[in-house]
Amino acid sequence: MNKTVHIKTYGCQMNVYDSSRMRDVLAPLGYAETDMAEGADLVILNTCHIREKAAEKVYSELGKLREMKEARAAQGKEMLIAVAGCVGQAEGQEITRRNKAVDLVFGPQTYHRLPELLGQRQATGRAAVETEFAAERKFEELVEKPQAQGSVAAFLTIQEGCDKFCTFCVVPYTRGAEFSRPVAQILQEAAKLAARGVREVTLLGQNVNAYRGEGGNGPESLARLVARLSQIQGIERIRYVTSHPRDMTDDLIAAHGANEKLMPYLHLPIQAGNDRILKAMNRGHTVADYLRLVDKVKAARPDIALSGDFIVGFPGESEAEFAGTLQVAREVGYASAYTFKYSPRPGTPAAARADQIEEPVKDQRLAALQAQILEQTKAFNASCVGRELPVLLEKPGRHDGQLIGRSPYLQSVHVAAQNLSIGQIANISIKSVGPNSLSGQYVGQI
Ligand code: SAH
Ligand code: SF4
Ligand code: F3S
Repeated sequence: MNKTVHIKTYGCQMNVYDSSRMRDVLAPLGYAETDMAEGADLVILNTCHIREKAAEKVYSELGKLREMKEARAAQGKEMLIAVAGCVGQAEGQEITRRNKAVDLVFGPQTYHRLPELLGQRQATGRAAVETEFAAERKFEELVEKPQAQGSVAAFLTIQEGCDKFCTFCVVPYTRGAEFSRPVAQILQEAAKLAARGVREVTLLGQNVNAYRGEGGNGPESLARLVARLSQIQGIERIRYVTSHPRDMTDDLIAAHGANEKLMPYLHLPIQAGNDRILKAMNRGHTVADYLRLVDKVKAARPDIALSGDFIVGFPGESEAEFAGTLQVAREVGYASAYTFKYSPRPGTPAAARADQIEEPVKDQRLAALQAQILEQTKAFNASCVGRELPVLLEKPGRHDGQLIGRSPYLQSVHVAAQNLSIGQIANISIKSVGPNSLSGQYVGQI
């Protein structure tokens, strides 16, 4: 029987990966993907719990879906609604209590059991809720499923969960303890991706550089895994996100200088530029520790593009402490960065503090930091004009005869498609920069 599923994805890249695997799990049940919720037999919201706004979106979306479901029921048709991802994990049963139209709730560790959950829902007529943690079994089952065709650049989750418990963060509660997939399983998945034309893999994990996967003779590091992956024919580029400063080991830093396939881009969040705040955040590193790491990384790979995450307005943050954040961002010379206002999350230690910062102050600090980062990004992009960069061509551009690809530094690059095709890595001479992308001309294939 042909059915349709619509999956809406929020949050981080790990959710993007999970959504693509949900499609793979549902395909054998006859579900084809549709890009509209309206008319779909099954709608899955793959949700994010990281900040209040992200979680709130889910409930407003559920309100709309409920109306759609009722309209469909009036035509004698069924529409199932599922809440997956980190809100599903964090709120479980509470979701079905707040919105009676929800049929399925499950977390990031249980989506491989979707067929079972659908069966359970149909058999009982009641909502099925499943939020246990079982990352190991999930990956064992998923590796057997064929993966749908996709882009020439793919995500591959290699590590999940977090044991670090930063005082602001929900991830340890929604994704569970740190878990690394075995090396052989990852190599198998990467080889499958290469066989269907993938040329760039981005290895994913909440703490990807804490990777310690079983390699046959004991656990292996991310640096070792990257070395093994770079031997797979067809895989030309490797990236990894997100890294924690505490797990940035010397062998991984050295790999940036030694392995041509490891792209010169590193996302290494510091969160704040003041030691008192970093301590209150339970980050386990100081500003000086972080700057030392950055020096080492730059020594190994001088042209590396650094990126990071920042939180402004953590409880108790003074104006002078915030100035430390602006200062460190300048000193590191980030090519890009993600900036967030602190959002109190239920159940985390920082949310219970009495010295919360007022919203207008957070707004001001965010605006100041964003303005500075924007300048830094523009300067980094401008420094690429006149250079020749190898670009992996990924998709057609908005205009006819145009292709969009990625530079080694993860910038979008627009080129005229003449004599070029998707999947090629072409040498592009960078001619100009726009607000979010570069444009260039083809000068030869690599
Ligand atoms: N594991 C990654 C981060 C995952 S969450 C790391 O440790 O770097 C992605 C980003 O969301 C974090 O880096 C942080 O900057 C931001 N974030 C997490 N919790 C937040 C909160 N309560 N309020 C605002 N931003 C938050
Ligand atoms: Fe959250 Fe900290 Fe873990 Fe990153 S390291 S996921 S910010 S608790
Ligand atoms: Fe959000 Fe969960 Fe990712 S909370 S950021 S979707 S790990």
